[in-house]
Amino acid sequence: MSAVTNTFENVKAIILSAHKNTTSKEKVNFYSSWAENYDQDVAVLDYRAPSLAADCISAHVSCEHEAAVVLDVACGTGLVARQMKKHGFEHFVGIDGSEAMLEVAKQSELYQDLKQCMLGEEPLPVHWGFYEVVVIVGALSDGQVPVGVVRDLCRATKPGGYICMTTRGNLDNLEYKSSLECELRQMEAEGLWTCAQVTEVKEWERAVSEQEDGYISGVVYLYKKL
Ligand SMILES: C[S@@+](CC[C@H](N)C(=O)[O-])C[C@H]1O[C@@H](n2cnc3c(N)ncnc32)[C@H](O)[C@@H]1O
Repeated sequence: MSAVTNTFENVKAIILSAHKNTTSKEKVNFYSSWAENYDQDVAVLDYRAPSLAADCISAHVSCEHEAAVVLDVACGTGLVARQMKKHGFEHFVGIDGSEAMLEVAKQSELYQDLKQCMLGEEPLPVHWGFYEVVVIVGALSDGQVPVGVVRDLCRATKPGGYICMTTRGNLDNLEYKSSLECELRQMEAEGLWTCAQVTEVKEWERAVSEQEDGYISGVVYLYKKL
């Protein structure tokens, strides 16, 4: 890891460079090239999604936190597990498409198991109906994980368990956000899960696009598997 903290302008340039990546594979390759500096660069953006998701999960999950098995999908370097550990969670299984992000997650020693998988292209390598908590943070957005994967997140969860998801409210992601919300409502109508909490956050992270200033908004969704 580099000892020098990046400037906001440098981090913005890194993220904007990824906008030319149109396929999920290209996006995941971008994350591989960013893996070593990811944690310190997202701190420059005030990236709070992992702690917001962990707080939301912790407030609702009534089983013993230390006994719960958590599936962290698109786990990246492990920021979500790090935040959940503060709330007493101890058992984590991580999945990500990027080997380099998984290597950083492995070094954190937070995960009992880490698996490489291209979400939306390969089947989820999990035990169905097994996990007390399934969480996906920072990856449900345009060009990353397709909306249809949320059905598998629900399938992987134990009945009575929780699925926590986040997405961004920036202009480029509005179409994706609206399809995601449509799918979440459709699955509720099908009796697969029930909505436990939706938290809209105005200051989600610092904006990096040319059309937006200040902070972009974001949302934490929490569903309970029926
Ligand atoms: C913004 S990072 C979020 C990582 C972590 N959850 C966090 O909040 O710090 C997005 C992660 O999703 C992974 N990712 C994006 N699209 C993916 C896909 N289609 N399949 C598997 N992983 C994907 C990337 O490799 C990256 O590690």
